[in-house]
Amino acid sequence: MKPFQYAIIGGTGVYNSGVSSFQKTVETEYGEVEVDIAEVKKNSIVFLARHGKEHGTLPHRINYRANLKALQKLGVQHIFATAAVGSLNPNYPTGSLVVISDFLDMTKQRPLTFFEGGLEGAKHVKMDDPYCANLRKHLLETAKRHDVQFKGNAIYICTEGPRFESEAEIKMMREWGADVVGMTSVPEVVLAKELGLCYASVGFVVNMATGMERGPIQLESIGEMLAQNKEKVNLMFLDIFKKTLDQQNCGCLDSIVNL
Ligand code: HPA
Repeated sequence: MKPFQYAIIGGTGVYNSGVSSFQKTVETEYGEVEVDIAEVKKNSIVFLARHGKEHGTLPHRINYRANLKALQKLGVQHIFATAAVGSLNPNYPTGSLVVISDFLDMTKQRPLTFFEGGLEGAKHVKMDDPYCANLRKHLLETAKRHDVQFKGNAIYICTEGPRFESEAEIKMMREWGADVVGMTSVPEVVLAKELGLCYASVGFVVNMATGMERGPIQLESIGEMLAQNKEKVNLMFLDIFKKTLDQQNCGCLDSIVNL
């Protein structure tokens, strides 16, 4: 395997990186994970389909710990993710792309941490920059060249799913400051940080959240919308991965607090 390992975690609609690759099964203490690995110039790029290749794994059933552990085992230090989201912000209409900059956690019943205490002691993880500041900077700098128009930064509220939100919930979430809603970024971003990995995520707005428009939420044209953007965004990720990324310009390696 080549010296720099980068990864893409593809959300709904993004099931490959668009470059030729071979499959690998990675064993972890949390379970097996299937990935595709592409060798691009001097780097290896690992692609992981978050919901599985057939999109069969619902958000609350995803084995997030196995996924992140597998990437770490492969030597990955930098991860870009994509996430289909609903919008609570009228400035981010359906079809928008956003850079996720922070999160609110409303998940209820998924394993949220690698830390179990006991012999390893009491560990906590800082969340002042959950999404790597350095990777986010690269996204914003590289977007124009790839005709990717980010509408802005977005605070992501993560729900347990698989149900969508009620109108009253969305009203409350807007008051809390959420811009977009989805079902997967927590615990993915938290687990990456616990492992000292740099992680950033691009949100694809596929619908306005419940109650944001008259009538029921519209999700019919998701496929088309994702198809339009996924290629451009993947190419942008691959372009950023051509650089030698380090961990000197962010706090991701230094986020664990041992008490
Ligand atoms: N709510 C939660 N998750 C989502 C939505 C939504 O409206 N759209 C895409 N993922």
